[in-house]
Amino acid sequence: MRIARVNNYSQVVVFVCYLLSTACKFCVASAVSDTTCEKLLVGQYTCDAPIIDPTTQEISGCAKNSSARIPCKPLNQIVCNGKLYNGSMIGFYKDVPCRFTNGYSYIVALALSLFLGWLGVDRFYLGYPAIGLLKLCSFGLCGIGALVDFLLIATQVLLPSDGSNYVIDFYGPRLVRLFVNNDTYY
Ligand SMILES: *[C@@H]1O[C@H](CO)[C@@H](O)[C@H](O)[C@H]1NC(C)=O
Ligand SMILES: *[C@@H]1O[C@H](CO)[C@@H](O)[C@H](O)[C@H]1NC(C)=O
Ligand SMILES: *[C@@H]1O[C@H](CO)[C@@H](O)[C@H](O)[C@H]1NC(C)=O
Repeated sequence: MRIARVNNYSQVVVFVCYLLSTACKFCVASAVSDTTCEKLLVGQYTCDAPIIDPTTQEISGCAKNSSARIPCKPLNQIVCNGKLYNGSMIGFYKDVPCRFTNGYSYIVALALSLFLGWLGVDRFYLGYPAIGLLKLCSFGLCGIGALVDFLLIATQVLLPSDGSNYVIDFYGPRLVRLFVNNDTYY
């Protein structure tokens, strides 16, 4: 009688353990399939190399907020977004920083400013018609405005009015502004 009781208890314990382990397996499985692909760890996915547009020398598809979307593929046998990936399916997109251009050429702007700046053509080209008209009517503000604009364009301080950057050759004189902050050693 006593032995039988012990047997009963052990059976209950085994049964409870079985229930718990099943529940655990379910929890783990749902946790794995609930992982969003964006939260995968480094090494669980590969991202395509950015495609460089040969006409602008910038990442193609660069948006106005200076970021481009790059497709990323989870590796083979990785589960995310409730899906099993095989290594060649796109799981998510990653934003990478880039330089937004909108067809305004640095060389063209500089040449227009040098030869036709006294007529304000450089300002018209860059999308500032009011200042362009002013320069046109005053022969480049008696040449001083034309000279100032040439210097501003040459140093890439004056940019196209739509907030884009100049299209510059790969080996061209691209100006990168550096800022001094707490992370700078000097
Ligand atoms: C830039 O804009 C695009 C949509 O135009 C958006 O999908 C993306 O998240 C934005 N990137 C950043 C870094 O704000
Ligand atoms: C992965 O899956 C996609 C579609 O589900 C299929 O087109 C592709 O051929 C598969 N690749 C491999 C390597 O199995
Ligand atoms: C730079 O460091 C100083 C002092 O260490 C601190 O007061 C200041 O807030 C920091 N500035 C920034 C932008 O982190």
